[in-house]
Formats: sequence, C-alpha cells, structure tokens
Amino acid sequence: MTHVLLVGSGGREHAIADALSRSDDCKLYSFMSSRNPGIVRLSEEWAVGDICDVVSVAKWARARKIEVAVIGPDAAFEKGVVDELEKNEVLVCGPSKAAARIEWDKSFARELMKKNKISGCPKFISTSDAKTAAEFIDELGGEVAIKPSGLTGGKGVKVVGKQLKDGKEAKQYAAEVLSANIGKLGSVVIEEKLEGEEFTLQAFVDGRALAGMPLVQDHKLAFEGDKGGNTGGMGSYSDANHLLPFISARERDAALDIMRSTISALAKAGSPYLGILYGQFISTAHGLKVIEFNSRFGDPEAMNVLPLLEGDFAEIAGRIGEGKLARSEMKFAQKASVCKYLVPEGYPEKPLKGEPVEVNEGAIAREGCKIFYASIDEREGKLVMLGSRTVALVGQGASIAEAEKKAERACTYVKGKLFHRRDIGTAELINKRVAHMAALKGKGN
Ligand code: AMP
Ligand code: GLY
Repeated sequence: MTHVLLVGSGGREHAIADALSRSDDCKLYSFMSSRNPGIVRLSEEWAVGDICDVVSVAKWARARKIEVAVIGPDAAFEKGVVDELEKNEVLVCGPSKAAARIEWDKSFARELMKKNKISGCPKFISTSDAKTAAEFIDELGGEVAIKPSGLTGGKGVKVVGKQLKDGKEAKQYAAEVLSANIGKLGSVVIEEKLEGEEFTLQAFVDGRALAGMPLVQDHKLAFEGDKGGNTGGMGSYSDANHLLPFISARERDAALDIMRSTISALAKAGSPYLGILYGQFISTAHGLKVIEFNSRFGDPEAMNVLPLLEGDFAEIAGRIGEGKLARSEMKFAQKASVCKYLVPEGYPEKPLKGEPVEVNEGAIAREGCKIFYASIDEREGKLVMLGSRTVALVGQGASIAEAEKKAERACTYVKGKLFHRRDIGTAELINKRVAHMAALKGKGN
C-alpha cells in the first residue's frame, strides 16, 4: 500500500481525499488545520496543526513513511512545504516554492508572461511607487483592476465598477496597498479592466507535459443574480463535453497553449512546475486573457472534476511527483456536474458560527449526489458550522440541468441556518452568460 499524505481541510481537500480513497493502493494520512469530519473518516490517521509550519508537516510525514503527497491550500506552497517534503524523499503533487510563485506573486506571474511573450496578458505594470501607479491608472482612463502582488486570501483584488467607484478610488486603493503593504511583497499590479465571461481550466502538470481537465465556471458573488460580496466561490458547474456553453474547443485549446507556454517559461527559468495548475481565464471581445494562475486545485472547482476522474488519482499524483505524467490514464467521465456550497447565514460579512447542522447522508447518496464537508466540525457526534463555506453538494448528470436538479434536491437534506445560491447551474443563469458572450463577441467584430 502506498502511504499518501494530504495537507488541508476544506471542501477541496475532502474531494481530494475522496478521489484518493478510490485508488486501489492508497493509505491516506491527513494533516489538517481543522478537523474535517469527511476527511477524518477516509484517513488511516490524521492530525490537526499549522499547515504552514512545514518542518512539522514533513516530520509528521516522515514518521508515517509517506511516499506521495497532495497539497491543497496555496499558503503552504508559499512556505515551501513541497521543498521540505522533497528533502524527505516524498513524491509531491504540488509546486516548489519557486514554481508556486506564479500564484503567490502576481507581479512575477505578469512579468513572466510579458518576458516570454505569452499571449493573454493584459496591459499592466507592477510597481512599488504610488505616483507611477496613479499615472498608469490615468493612462488606462481609470478602467483598471488593482492587485496586491502577494497572497491576500482572495480579498485583495479590487476592480473599478465593482469594489472601486472610479479612477480616483483606484489610485487611493493602490496607494493603500503600498502604504499598508497589503500582500506583504511591497508592490502592486495595476492592469487594464477586462470584460467578459470567466472560466477555470485546471491541469495536471509534471514539469514539462500538461493534461487538461474539464472546464468549470465558478460563482464568486454571495447572492443569486451575481449580487453581494466576494466569496471563495459559492458553487460551480461543468458540462458533459468538458467545455462550457459559451466556450468552444478552440478557445479551450488556446487556454491550454497559454498554460503550456507558462510551464515551459518556468522550466526555462529553472523552476519546473509539478502539480495542479489552475488557470483563471476570461473570454473577451478581444480574445482570451489570463486573470490569474493558481498553484493548486480550485475550491469549489476540484469538487466538479475530481468525482469525474476515472484514472487512479494516487497513481497520477505519484507520477506528477516523478515527472512522468505520460504513463498515467487521465480520463474524465462524460457527465455534467453542478456543485453548490451551503454557507452560514450572514456569510461572507458576518457569518454565524457554532450553530448545529444536520446532514442526511443516506438520502444524499440515494439521490446519487456527493457531499463534501468544509468549514464544519463534529463535536460529541453533532455537526457544528465554523463560520465559512460549510458543506458542498455535487450532482452529476447527462446535462447541466439534470445535475443542477440533483444538487438542489441534495441541498434539502442538509438542515441548519445556512443558505446557498439556487441559481447556479440553472438554464436562466447560463443563458444569461451565453447572451453576454454573444453580445461581447458581436462588439469585437
Ligand atoms: P483574483 O483574486 O486575481 O482571482 O481576482 C478576483 C476577481 O477579480 C476575478 O475573479 C475577476 O472577477 C476580477 N478581476 C481580476 N483581474 C481583473 C481584470 N484585469 N479585469 C477585470 N476583473 C478582474
Ligand atoms: N474558486 C477559486 C479558487 O479556488 O481560487
């Protein structure tokens, strides 16, 4: 049996644990920042600790004779968890600190694209000077996105017309990012504001080769009709043909080419990328652009694709760590999927905490759906919400509509002071996306 380490404790990591548990040859050991009841059940042994204390993680792994590791959250990469595990001869499905810089330093990511003439890079500058930032904001007519270079837990990016009113507020925010050192890298990225439909392409990468997964669309805003504050992602869907209703195979291939060029640029720079690469793209009237790269599976996007994976994930993860991905089978079932997150009332601003949750797992399984636990604990046999995205329900089907109906039925089997977006995966919302894309493409011609 291969001893496999999982690091992380959210819904994404429960989906990883679930995929690993379907492998023929895997004993799972999980190191979590809080006790995820779903992961606990699938683990041979588990521990709760600081996942950013990478020396302790590696020590725990060594004592359990770990051979392969899969890392979920971005923060651990920045701290060098992969480098530390590799010192201990573990094959890791995850990038080194140097390669993961593609996520933890947005200036680096943009400069890498520019230097290597990789297509899909918006107009941008990266600077540590507020005056230079202000001049560039004027040059772009105030239509900008402001991004702290470093990690901010998804809360740092602000866009004019969304979180910022106009160019003046953009300048103020850019100056604030620098003076308060938001993101902790001392620089800010200013880039042209892009308009279009966003989608996610995740890929397995072994340093050189890359294998794409089905496309997914996430929903960042808290409330139905894309209203409310930004969240980690309220839910997501994927289609049976692995494309999206508004993204063609040609556009998907163009996105894969961009990711391939990025991987070879990293290899050329001496930091080969091994692990899961997450590309956030936006299809605009002027073609495909990159919003950002992440060095890990998306949460919720992992919950769409991993249950569809027909290959052996423990084997794939080991092959990625060895740099020999080509030897693995990486097929995904030709089914659509819809994932809906149930979150505490008051989320994201003032979420309830410590309230009870009741889950009828048997009924969810009878619907043919999966439940993934996230920010939730089990205390004296009872489930309690911890204050962030609580549980995710995933339905599959021949069509997005069928998967959506199943996910929605599954949601009725979870009781508690929770809410979710009923519109994710519905024909009404998807038709809106298709019409938006058609209108933009019309403008571009
Ligand atoms: P990120 O943290 O980079 O994923 O950005 C969060 C969100 O900000 C993205 O999902 C986009 O909706 C938005 N965003 C990021 N960059 C831009 C841009 N250049 N133009 C418009 N929106 C953007
Ligand atoms: N769903 C967005 C992310 O994982 O970053």
